[in-house]
Amino acid sequence: MKQLKASEIRQNFIDYFKEQGHMVEPSAPLVPIDDDSLLWINSGVATLKKYFDGREIPKKPRIVNSQKAIRTNDIENVGFTARHHTFFEMLGNFSIGDYFKREAIEFAWEFLTSDRWMGMEPEKLYVTIHPEDTEAYDLWHDVIGLEESRIIRIEGNFWDIGEGPSGPNTEIFYDRGPEYGKDDPAEEMYPGGENERYLEVWNLVFSEFNHNKDHTYTPLPNKNIDTGMGLERMASIAQNVRTNYETDLFMPIIEDVEKISGKKYQEDADQDVAFKVIADHIRTIAFAIGDGALPANEGRGYVLRRLLRRAVRFSQSLDINEPFMYQLVDAVADIMEPYYPEVKQKADFIKRVIKSEEERFHETLEEGLAILNDMIKDAKAGGNVINGKDAFKLYDTYGFPIELTEEIADNEGLTVDMKTFEAEMQKQRDRARQARQKSESMQIQSEVLKNITTQSTFTGYDVMDQNTKITDIIVNGERVEKADAGDTVFFVLEATPFYAVSGGQVADQGTVSNENFEIEVTEVTNAPNGQNLHKGAVQFGQVAEGAEVEASVNHADRRDIKKNHSATHLLHAALKEVLGDHVNQAGSLVEGDRLRFDFSHFGPVTEEELEQVERRVNEEIWKGIDVTIKEMPIEEAKASGAMALFGEKYGDVVRVVDMSPFSIELCGGIHVQNTSEIGLFKIVSESGTGAGVRRIEALTGKAAFLYLEEIQNKFKAVKHQVKAKQDEQVAEKVSQLIDNEKQLHKQLEQRNQEITALKMGSIDDQIEEINGLKVLALQVDAENAKALRQTMDDFKSKLQDSVIILASDVGDKVALVATVPKSETDKVKAGDLIKNMAPVVGGKGGGRPDMAQGGGSEPSKITEALQFIKNYIKSL
Ligand code: ALA
Repeated sequence: MKQLKASEIRQNFIDYFKEQGHMVEPSAPLVPIDDDSLLWINSGVATLKKYFDGREIPKKPRIVNSQKAIRTNDIENVGFTARHHTFFEMLGNFSIGDYFKREAIEFAWEFLTSDRWMGMEPEKLYVTIHPEDTEAYDLWHDVIGLEESRIIRIEGNFWDIGEGPSGPNTEIFYDRGPEYGKDDPAEEMYPGGENERYLEVWNLVFSEFNHNKDHTYTPLPNKNIDTGMGLERMASIAQNVRTNYETDLFMPIIEDVEKISGKKYQEDADQDVAFKVIADHIRTIAFAIGDGALPANEGRGYVLRRLLRRAVRFSQSLDINEPFMYQLVDAVADIMEPYYPEVKQKADFIKRVIKSEEERFHETLEEGLAILNDMIKDAKAGGNVINGKDAFKLYDTYGFPIELTEEIADNEGLTVDMKTFEAEMQKQRDRARQARQKSESMQIQSEVLKNITTQSTFTGYDVMDQNTKITDIIVNGERVEKADAGDTVFFVLEATPFYAVSGGQVADQGTVSNENFEIEVTEVTNAPNGQNLHKGAVQFGQVAEGAEVEASVNHADRRDIKKNHSATHLLHAALKEVLGDHVNQAGSLVEGDRLRFDFSHFGPVTEEELEQVERRVNEEIWKGIDVTIKEMPIEEAKASGAMALFGEKYGDVVRVVDMSPFSIELCGGIHVQNTSEIGLFKIVSESGTGAGVRRIEALTGKAAFLYLEEIQNKFKAVKHQVKAKQDEQVAEKVSQLIDNEKQLHKQLEQRNQEITALKMGSIDDQIEEINGLKVLALQVDAENAKALRQTMDDFKSKLQDSVIILASDVGDKVALVATVPKSETDKVKAGDLIKNMAPVVGGKGGGRPDMAQGGGSEPSKITEALQFIKNYIKSL
């Protein structure tokens, strides 16, 4: 067959089917849109389901695509085999109720064998079919002319991977020849068997059934064609290389890993596994991040985290011990750019995310590996089972995905006690839940609450005061008819303006009263049957079931809460606009005093970005956008572009809070009627809360004003302190002060130097000529021995030809130091000087001929000691 680059194969495929009247469907993002049955797009047909099941009619019934896909069912095989990948490309042609088996088979045969296209030798091709598919048999045999021995019947030839289109299929195999394995049925050495010789190159699915959510099958509205050709394996054939990794889709990545590690591919079997794991996983990670996924502890994000950590773990066998995966993004981007420009376009972002995730793992990697090795040793010493508690610790503290631990254990012939691991995991979940529950102090016997079935309407979207009736009262966990002053009561109202805490918005507080009693409401949550359940303390009087009351939420608080909630929506939209679409809400708290918003982002938000975000929110406030709120079917809401929170479950009918065009969001909370009501928006802090999650705290309205006022007051205080008359002068004054300070520093230094020089000058007078030597023996001030040595260094640099002996009173001790010029050490040695002198001050010491030190305990004897040493030199 022809030698072809991967990009040429891809283009040929598309061009061929374009000639056959197919429209090109661009590759869809890896993160499924409107399809919660899939974690990732995992085949070419996955993005076209809507056409297959008749929900939507395509513009043309013939479609061709090259679709990026992720499959994560056997991650642990990747690296150890020639062809397992987590990321791959699938070339496919599709017919929606147009052509069926005959043309599908004819197209495939022509594309593979024609010299214009792939130029495969017909005698090297084999096919498999479903045993009952006689139509397919006849087509291959009679129309294409394949002899019977090359048509193999296999029961498993029915394509079905869960929800979506399915049907019998026919697969085409290419025989790479005996150098890839001798014919031997025992070794599964036949087309369709597990072998390296006969490679499946194309799967043609005759889609006739829909596999429904409940695992029943119904005929599809049309008979359709769905085909899939793995680009990577086709490239390995066209480039005549043993595994997919040696094709031009992977080699540039592997070469970069060679450069980084200094190791060579295909020299060592263990290292090759690492090369392959890294080359495979970086493609998946780079593409997935480019399509909006981010490393996290669950769902898609967990898959990414797991792949990245697996690759990093394998990189250890290439002696790579620091973040490096991010450097491979450029190679991936370059290889894939011809058809998938997105990785190149987002390369900087992708690299930042990967690097920070690598850094996080490296922080604990070494310690984790050491612990894992101990665990392996322990397991081997008895039982061959890795302790589940340890595995949990490794997961929880050191960030080792449990699947990674299992895989490493498996390679060592060990298993992990998963039961204990799961139990530990459950304990942790329980702890987290308990912690959450404790913070919600409302704990009542749920039985009592479950039995409350009275209707209660929430009127708080429209009013803050409501005349209504108390329907159910609970005191001390029991239903009661009356409650007295001092009691803490839980109660339900027939109609209530009190918002129950949810969606990040806090509950309203306020009063429920009539002329006989008053309850101060402090908390509101939802009872099991959905009613708003109020908690409060009876201030005075007696509360009775059925009492007519006025329920009033605190107006001022409610106004502030509304502002903060609407501002939160604007902030969310502004963050997406300024930082990018990867920003997703990770948590939110809307109170009267402030708002707090957590969101996914890979690093600190810069000062400029924050300013921009704040400015954008304020601009939308200045515009005075009317806030419209409507209920509508979820589909309609999504079509209008409403932001839904990732992973959140919504009912069929949703409430849409619309501040078009800037923000449209699904939300059950309470909002202002016009954005101008928010008044003012001010961010007061930005920080990190955990991996990839940032937190912004902000103020609106009056609180924002008070905050700014306080800053202004601080400014005014500074203004007075620096004695500026006008605001504009403050900066100038401050820089004058700084300049002044620098100036003073300089002057001080100069003075110090002068003083030292003066001291030195007077010291010259104190040098004595003794026995032909210049001698300076002196008591000086020094804090300690170290300071004394420094003083000695100063002296020595000035008096290079003198013998210098210094003594200092350091607290109630004596420090001594002596130096003798090298040229004079044959006459007198510093060590001898100190050795003789130290006993005079009640101590000892010694050292080299040119430098020695010592100490003593009698400072009062210093003068005597200095005199003694002068005499000593004289006597030499
Ligand atoms: N959808 C078929 C496959 O993935 C073609 O193999």
